[in-house]
Amino acid sequence: MTPVLEIMSAHRSIRKFTDRAVDADLLTSLITAAQCTSTSHHVQAYTIIQVTDPNNRQKIADMAGPQPWVAEAPVFLVFCADLTRLVYACRQNTVEPETGWAEQLLVATVDTALLAQSLMLGAESAGLGGVFIGGIRNDPNLVCDLLHIPEHAFPVFGMCLGYPNEDPAPKPRLPLNLMFHQNRFPETVNYRELAAYDDIIQAYYEKRAPKLRDRTWTRQIAEFTGQVIRPHMKSFLAQKRFFKH
Ligand SMILES: Cc1cc2nc3c(=O)[nH]c(=O)nc-3n(C[C@H](O)[C@H](O)[C@H](O)COP(=O)(O)O)c2cc1C
Repeated sequence: MTPVLEIMSAHRSIRKFTDRAVDADLLTSLITAAQCTSTSHHVQAYTIIQVTDPNNRQKIADMAGPQPWVAEAPVFLVFCADLTRLVYACRQNTVEPETGWAEQLLVATVDTALLAQSLMLGAESAGLGGVFIGGIRNDPNLVCDLLHIPEHAFPVFGMCLGYPNEDPAPKPRLPLNLMFHQNRFPETVNYRELAAYDDIIQAYYEKRAPKLRDRTWTRQIAEFTGQVIRPHMKSFLAQKRFFKH
């Protein structure tokens, strides 16, 4: 184990924070370091917006769940996939921008996610904890209105950061042989391994939240996958000029 691997392996989402403020210089260092993450074609297709206005925080917290930690966390960041500078670069060079392609949506979203995960890891290395907030996509237009996010940019997720005031055990991940393979994709899902993993996750939840019954991984994932989630995203992305082709 290297020190970085130890931090990665100890990750768990944190939703309760102490009152201790996060130093502005520390936040700047975390963002600057996260910017060094690989980026497709060096496009750096992202923008981070820190939300400090308590009214806007509360509105986003309510809309996202409610998720009270969005209002309470010492730091709340919104990560935007952002093609505005790319469009500007085209105009600057009298090139007609080709926007609205699925590939660009992937490029900008992947870039944003990689940046955010680097920031999370850096934050954890500095003793902070945090949680991603995909719930902001419940009403992405509200986030765009509150934060003045223009066309060619959209909020992918938020992130709460602060000093942890809880210490949950890390959530067990899939056994390696279910998700790492040599040379070819497996022919079938290894249902025996998956059943064993269900038992592990069930035991984890029984310890963490004894009231929760039947919290196997496959049960949770079936519930998640068996419902339509945020059907507005296609038209929202089209409206933001991310989804045409
Ligand atoms: C893109 C993304 C969006 C997420 N959105 C939320 C969210 O809205 N609210 C929340 O409490 N957790 C959210 N999470 C946290 C996941 O639920 C959590 O990472 C997962 O259950 C694994 O738990 P762990 O992070 O404690 O290991 C999100 C995670 C990711 C990567």
